[in-house]
Amino acid sequence: MSLFKVTLLVPETKEKWSLCGTANPPLIPLRNGEPLLPFFQPMSQRTRQLTLHPTSVVPQLIPKDGKTPGYFHTAILTELPHSGTIYYQFGNPIDGWSSIRSFKALSPPSADAAIRISIVADMGVSQPDKVQYHWQEEDAYQTIGHVTKLSSSTDLVLHIGDIAYATGYAPKWDMFMDSIEPVASTIPYMVTQGNHERDWPGSGTFFDGRDSGGECGVPTQHRFRMPKPSEDKTFWYSFQQGSVHFAFMDTEMPCGRGSPQHTWIQNDLANVNRSLTPWIIFSGHRPMYTIDDYDGHFADIEELLFNHKVDLVLWGHVHYAFATCPVYKKQCIKPKARGEYDAPIHTVIGNGGQGLAPIPLRKAPYSLYEKDEWGYERILVHNSTHLTMQFYANHLNTLHHSFQIVRAFPRK
Ligand SMILES: [Fe+2]
Repeated sequence: MSLFKVTLLVPETKEKWSLCGTANPPLIPLRNGEPLLPFFQPMSQRTRQLTLHPTSVVPQLIPKDGKTPGYFHTAILTELPHSGTIYYQFGNPIDGWSSIRSFKALSPPSADAAIRISIVADMGVSQPDKVQYHWQEEDAYQTIGHVTKLSSSTDLVLHIGDIAYATGYAPKWDMFMDSIEPVASTIPYMVTQGNHERDWPGSGTFFDGRDSGGECGVPTQHRFRMPKPSEDKTFWYSFQQGSVHFAFMDTEMPCGRGSPQHTWIQNDLANVNRSLTPWIIFSGHRPMYTIDDYDGHFADIEELLFNHKVDLVLWGHVHYAFATCPVYKKQCIKPKARGEYDAPIHTVIGNGGQGLAPIPLRKAPYSLYEKDEWGYERILVHNSTHLTMQFYANHLNTLHHSFQIVRAFPRK
């Protein structure tokens, strides 16, 4: 299955809505009583099969202004080629078709494959003229601007939670999706949900806050259908691209030993073929490590990361940039020899656009880099043995920090 996703947007009502506990049956968009199909057509000669899943995700509200809340269409393409360019259009015969878009075919996992990744978190959306009716993430337009300019040299974009900060205001989702469209229509845009997508008391989250504004993850799930098992509304999942196995956890859901999420992570990491994907990059929204603190709630997960030799961990949520030494149980770990495994390096990249968090005066011994500027991050996996992570500030697009991880291959 392709990781590539297209989300089509139509105007939504400005009603604020709550989705906690509601069941929204799928609807097929109709025009004059007939299903409005197709909405997506691949144009590659080598693409033989198209499976279309038209669904509606908009809650059953009656818009005051009479506008339709709209529909979301998901197309899953199978039997994609492993090289070349896939061209596509979306639309229908009645309303017309979009311009022709394209994305690069994804090559199969390979131990020495290079891959270039852009990462953001806590980004949201803003306009350069500061237009605002809900929250505004002041520097988001610069962050997505830099990521967009890098599209031609990027294979994958990761957005690690706190995505749009819509928190129940549907048009903000539209603004956000418009802002990422130049990137997300050409490059896989992979997300996990944060507290501002999921948290709500009594809805199954580990944290009882009201940070999702009542969305409970439903708008996120329908806009971003990630690979299994997240297709069944969880947000822990994994995939492989190039020489990397990517594993995402959902930090807003229970993750202690014996929980479904802990069991899934344990099985997923235990079954990585390190000969095929020697690197493991793990990610989730709410951080295990910050500059001055360690969240013991994640202790069971940390044990899994260390035991299964995860290389790099990406977190968000706290609005600064931060990186640790290779660390386990709050202690910096040194490798026995160059290239041998030491421990995961943890990073926080919550500086995508929301108001910045101050750097605390007291820093833990494992903290090697801290920056309270808006920006984005890059990971350049060069081959099976060398990986570089870079921290950029939006202002003047400045590289502030980078580090390299070197591992022997084959892995021990
Ligand atoms: Fe957050």
